[in-house]
Order: sequence, then structure tokens, then C-alpha cells
Amino acid sequence: MSGDTGSVYSRIAGTGGYLPERIMTNAELESMVETSDEWITSRTGITQRHIAAEDEFTLDLAEKASRVAIANAGIDASDIDLIVVATTTPDRVFPSTACLLQSKLDVHGCPAFDVQAVCTGFVYALGVADKFVKTGAAKCALVVGAETFSRIIDWTDRNTCVLFGDGAGAVVITASEEPGIYSTHLHADGDYAELLHVPSGVSNNLAAVKDGRAYVEMAGSEVFKMAVKTLGRIADETLEANGMVRDDVDWLVPHQANLRIIAATAKKLRLPMEKVILTVAEQGNTSAASIPLALHAGVSDGRIKRGETLIIEGFGGGFTWGSALIEY
Ligand code: ACO
Repeated sequence: MSGDTGSVYSRIAGTGGYLPERIMTNAELESMVETSDEWITSRTGITQRHIAAEDEFTLDLAEKASRVAIANAGIDASDIDLIVVATTTPDRVFPSTACLLQSKLDVHGCPAFDVQAVCTGFVYALGVADKFVKTGAAKCALVVGAETFSRIIDWTDRNTCVLFGDGAGAVVITASEEPGIYSTHLHADGDYAELLHVPSGVSNNLAAVKDGRAYVEMAGSEVFKMAVKTLGRIADETLEANGMVRDDVDWLVPHQANLRIIAATAKKLRLPMEKVILTVAEQGNTSAASIPLALHAGVSDGRIKRGETLIIEGFGGGFTWGSALIEY
């Protein structure tokens, strides 16, 4: 680690993503629960999602996405001096997925830790890593969102099982004198814990975890309303903090929970949907992985170009919510 604080910004040097091979379509879900392709598509925009193989774990997805981000950043893994992984579905209680990933990448000695903010996890991880870089505590950070959410889904509950998928996204951020991440905005309100949660864990009701009954429970329409309200507000907060206006934004890269929530946020920003990176149709909600996967999609197909300004934003269990304003 260096104490050099000459660089003011952290800049996205490279992005990566990985989706498991297996695709589960809405038609397949029709054979599992009382639902229809029409219902899922019209309420959520989701047509399919990727599901990890039985012997494929969050760490595997994280490693694959990270290797792509490292290659795209043009760095060597040994350059990495910080690893932050956002996940709600770690392989083990401990060590953290970040430590396991560090070993896989043959990186040694630098700080490595997980953050847990469910669907806002990647924004939290990026916010933390950005502050390490801005203070000179890191120069080259690997920030990952990786999930096997399919493992905490009750596949007999139509309220939740149609929404989620597995995947991982990653970015490498490096210290830079040019922008860069302008600002990150992180929030939480634990009073809403009961509306979206897995009501069992290691310390409480471990029996349920052992029996494989630790599943996502969600009060869908309450979460929906809060998400729309909160994401609209955070878009304003993010622009105001940087003295920017809506017209300064080239791209919205949102958490991909529901097309209708995303459309409401885009409307608030007065951004046409062509300026929103969407992966929700093909990937569903991959929780902490969805924002870096969307970012990677927009960068890899050439839509997001160097020098353009983007807002990333997310909302999830906690409740947690957050955003970042970034010049790519
Ligand atoms: N197929 C058919 N019918 C269904 C299904 C399904 N898969 N799921 C629910 N329904 C039924 C409900 O039972 C209900 O029936 P009822 O009126 O007879 O009781 C009816 O459809 C309407 O349900 P609503 O909840 O009112 O539908 P809504 O339009 O709100 O859409 C949805 C539901 C898609 C879940 C929406 O509320 C949503 O997207 N919520 C937010 C999800 C989210 O953003 N989560 C945050 C991130 S996730 C994280 O952090 C882990």
C-alpha cells in the first residue's frame, strides 16, 4: 500500500462478467409453479435467467468474471492491491469469498473482504473501494458482485422464484488524475428488514439453514413502491452532489430487478429507454451481480464509450440503496 494521494479519482480500467451456462426460461417455470410467461414478462420484463450448475458456486462465478475484468483492464493480477466482493450467497460462512478469490487469482497480502448489501451490494463495494483509492490506500482494486441466488430461492414460491438468477460481474478500478468515479452515495434503513429478507441465518434458526429452507421472502408490491420512490430521489441527490443536471447523463446502468422500476427511474431522469442498459430480460435479478453485469454488457458492445457519464443505482434488502456518478 502506498501513502501517495496524488491521484484524486478512481477510474474503471476494465469490466468483466460471467453467466452460468444453464438457462431457465419462463416456459420452464410454467411447469414448476402456477404462473405464465405473459404474467412474468408483463410484470417484470424477465424472459429467462441463468442458473448455476450443482457443482458451480459463487466463487467460481466471481473468478470467471474477475479474470475477464483483469484482462480487459490490461493489468496483471499481481497489480491488485484490494479485493472487495459483494455477495449475499457466499460459498462459506468464512473465509470471505474475497479471500477465496484472492487465493484463486494467486494474489497475496492485500486486503480482501466481502460486503453484504444484497442488491445494492455492488454499489456499496464500489463506494468502499473508491474511498480506498481516493485516500491512497489502494491503487488497483478488484470489485466484484457475485451471486448464486438460486440457492436461497424457494422454487415452489411463485412470488419470488420467477424473479432471480445467478451470475457475476467485476470491475478493476485504478488510481487516476482524470475522472473517474465522481461520487458514491450509500444508504440503508433497517426498519424495513421484514419486507425483503431470508429469515434464517447462522445465529438464528440454523436448523432451517441446515435443512435447506433458508429462502427469500418478499412483500413484492411494498418493495416495488419503495424502490421507485427511493431510486427517483437518489438520482436527484447524485446529480446535485456534483452540480450536474439530467442532460449531463449519458447512461443509466441500474440494478436489474424489474423493468417497470427501471422505467420509472429513467422517466425521473428524463432519459429515453435507449439510454438505459438493460439485461433484466435475459438475466433476471442477479442481486449484487446485476449492475456490474449490465455495465460490462454496455461497455463490451460499444454503447458506453470513454468520457461518457453514467449513473449506476441500486435498491435491495435492508433496505439498502445507493448510486454512483461515473465518467467512464
Ligand atoms: N405468476 C402469476 N401470478 C403471480 C406471480 C407469478 N409468478 N407472482 C405473484 N402473482 C400474483 C399474486 O399472488 C397476486 O395475486 P392476488 O392478487 O390474487 O393475491 C397478483 O399476482 C398480483 O401481485 P402483486 O404483488 O400485486 O404484483 P406486482 O404488480 O406488484 O408485481 C412483483 C409483483 C413483480 C414481485 C413486483 O412487486 C416487484 O418487482 N417488486 C419489487 C422486487 C424488487 O425490486 N426487489 C428488490 C430487489 S431484490 C433484493 O434485494 C434481494
